[in-house]
Amino acid sequence: MGAGGFLGTKLVKILSEHHEVYPFYHGKEPKVDITQIQDIQKIIDVKPNIVIHAAGMTNVDLCETYKELAEKVNVAPMHSIVEACNKTKAKLVYFSTDFIFDGEKGMYKEDDTPNPLGYYALTKLKAENILKEKSDDYLILRVVVLYGYNGDNSERSYVNWVVNSLSQGKEIKTYTDQYGTPTLTDDIADAVNLLTKNDCKGVYHVAGAQRLTRYDMAIKIAEEFNLNKCLIKPILMKDLNLPAKRPKDSSLSIEKLKKQGILMHTFEEGIKIMRHQTK
Ligand SMILES: NC(=O)c1ccc[n+]([C@@H]2O[C@H](COP(=O)([O-])OP(=O)(O)OC[C@H]3O[C@@H](n4cnc5c(N)ncnc54)[C@H](OP(=O)(O)O)[C@@H]3O)[C@@H](O)[C@H]2O)c1
Repeated sequence: MGAGGFLGTKLVKILSEHHEVYPFYHGKEPKVDITQIQDIQKIIDVKPNIVIHAAGMTNVDLCETYKELAEKVNVAPMHSIVEACNKTKAKLVYFSTDFIFDGEKGMYKEDDTPNPLGYYALTKLKAENILKEKSDDYLILRVVVLYGYNGDNSERSYVNWVVNSLSQGKEIKTYTDQYGTPTLTDDIADAVNLLTKNDCKGVYHVAGAQRLTRYDMAIKIAEEFNLNKCLIKPILMKDLNLPAKRPKDSSLSIEKLKKQGILMHTFEEGIKIMRHQTK
């Protein structure tokens, strides 16, 4: 599910090289609307070994404003999705977020205590808890600020926003006090491939190997893509009055992932890979 999303598009492309993939989209056929119980039957019909759930309402501020809708899309469907997977004995791979942590500590491990600051994060944590309680075989993969190349630069990702704005000569304001471990979507696809191959279960942090602020990211993007750094203006999170509160430092530790022999790229390496794919 969510095959047409930012991450879903990359997963379909890379996992198709190793597996028989049956993508389900939201806006086009073959279609699955996860809020419709009868649509979940379509998943069972393909008799999958693994179900990958990358669908959801992902706009943090919209979730804060439309809480009921966020609950309807991000939480309620989990019950029927888990039941369907249990019935077919399929492993369920679910994507969660660094935002389930409050950002006071940083470099969070899988068993650190979550404390969501906003409603989007709360829905993701509720979904995680349904999986932990009801699923017979699951992987919860927590990812952070996704970036990657999907064939054009029009998608909503922080890296694309910076590249597009600077290319058009537009000034951008970005935070010097919000830290994360941005994650290359190609790395996530490789991690899904290996974790499922090794029949791993439970929670894994699948994040980039480098902790940096949004401002540092923008500077590195400008350097890699040869764009004008002077257009990047530093601001603090409190300077923008957005509906949803964000964690200050929601960087994730990937020690557990490394023990499976899975290596993630640094941000510098990742944007280099992305730029080469753009050519
Ligand atoms: N992007 C990030 O930086 C980030 C960071 C941390 C965690 N994550 C998590 O990673 C996962 C993938 O994120 P993403 O960036 O790829 O999100 P995305 O681009 O917004 O993709 C989500 C997909 O879900 C679809 N969708 C929405 N409502 C649906 C419904 N009722 N039934 C079926 N599909 C529905 C959307 O379709 P429409 O476009 O047609 O609505 C879209 O294709 C999500 O679980 C997200 O919470 C993302």
